[in-house]
Amino acid sequence: MLILGLLSILLLGPGYRAADIPEDPTAEFSVRLYHHMQGGDENIIFSPLSVALALGMVELGARGASLTEIRQALGFSHLPKDVEFSMLQNLTGALYEDDARYIIRLANSLFLQSGVTFNPTFLRLMRKLFRAEVETVDFSESAAVAEQINGWVENHTEGKIRDLLSADDFSSVTRLTLVNAVYFRGSWKNQFRPENTRTFSFSKDDGSEVQTLMMYQQGEFYYGEFSDGSSEAGGVYQVLEMPYEGEDMSMLIVLPRQEVPLAALEPIIKAPLLEEWANNVKRQKVEVYLPKFKVEQKIDLRETLQDLGIKKIFTKDADLSAMTGEMADGKDLFIGKAVQKAYLEVTEEGAEGAAGSGMIALTRTLVLYPQVMADHPFFFVIRNRRTGSILFMGRVMMPEVVESSDFDNDSM
Ligand SMILES: *[C@@H]1O[C@H](CO)[C@@H](O)[C@H](O)[C@H]1NC(C)=O
Ligand SMILES: *[C@@H]1O[C@H](CO)[C@@H](O)[C@H](O)[C@H]1NC(C)=O
Repeated sequence: MLILGLLSILLLGPGYRAADIPEDPTAEFSVRLYHHMQGGDENIIFSPLSVALALGMVELGARGASLTEIRQALGFSHLPKDVEFSMLQNLTGALYEDDARYIIRLANSLFLQSGVTFNPTFLRLMRKLFRAEVETVDFSESAAVAEQINGWVENHTEGKIRDLLSADDFSSVTRLTLVNAVYFRGSWKNQFRPENTRTFSFSKDDGSEVQTLMMYQQGEFYYGEFSDGSSEAGGVYQVLEMPYEGEDMSMLIVLPRQEVPLAALEPIIKAPLLEEWANNVKRQKVEVYLPKFKVEQKIDLRETLQDLGIKKIFTKDADLSAMTGEMADGKDLFIGKAVQKAYLEVTEEGAEGAAGSGMIALTRTLVLYPQVMADHPFFFVIRNRRTGSILFMGRVMMPEVVESSDFDNDSM
């Protein structure tokens, strides 16, 4: 039990908060992914944790340089060999621990060409560590494969993620596809009252305005004002942490001042800063204006991960031989396709018997508490507060637009 011995030393060392719950070391990787995706003026949503889990699954079957590249990119290099698997397992376990309070669906699977013989140890560990099955398909039937994989994904994401892949995502040489879908639905601990939602102007970074449905509430949240001491990030910005029911999961919203575009703040976002925000927000009463939003994005991970240093597994030089039996041609396997689709919906919603006091008058003239008015682009993170695992990271540049004929001109 050498590994366990080393592990307990690591867990007690600085930087780890509790002996039994591992701290997610993939924050750095998550932030790098985000910076890779920013630019342009689109909304962003992706699940760093889910990418890490998918890569962990591949790592389990990888050897040599293919293995090293994954460990390095994910930030596992300093860990004793194989400890990351137990850690990923525990991090996922921590997510599901409280899942009576929210819905989380992590659908990770490897789809492999039928006829390839797999190493039984690999299959057993996939089930044990990742709760994942290896599915076999016949990639030469590309339309049928797309349908099969899409059906699988749909089944594992409450029907929210459809049409992930299409027939032209596969070719006759495809042997291995990595599929990775995430769906999350949580109820706020402090819910918004639907009757307080109004149409409201949202100012995009290009200066134009759209009408959106803005939720409102005054309640106890975690809040802080931060500055990086330079004017680069536009000076002071606000961070609001809103827990979901159960308080294990929360959303951090990072909002620059109204006149500062989000693009000015984004460059300062670093892994240690996420930690600093989470550790320094203080519980207090805050007035919150937050648009209802729904974000969805499909990411070609193949391209993105190659840019982050994970290259081999996507080429003929891949060594995924730990996936296959000794006799099989594991050396010929490489990952032809890797995609992620993430979906997130943010609404007033909550369980029945919503918390909160009586009707609150909407007023912008008398501000008694700090006011977080997300009527312009913001950055957000949904994380597990105990492990720091980042379930989602993204930004809202453009919320859902309400047609002008729909709104009631009841501007606040
Ligand atoms: C995962 O949890 C198990 C059971 O609590 C524990 O023995 C193991 O050390 C944990 N692994 C890591 C990497 O924290
Ligand atoms: C999806 O679920 C339904 C009902 O459980 C099942 O009949 C169907 O075969 C599933 N489809 C896939 C592709 O797993």
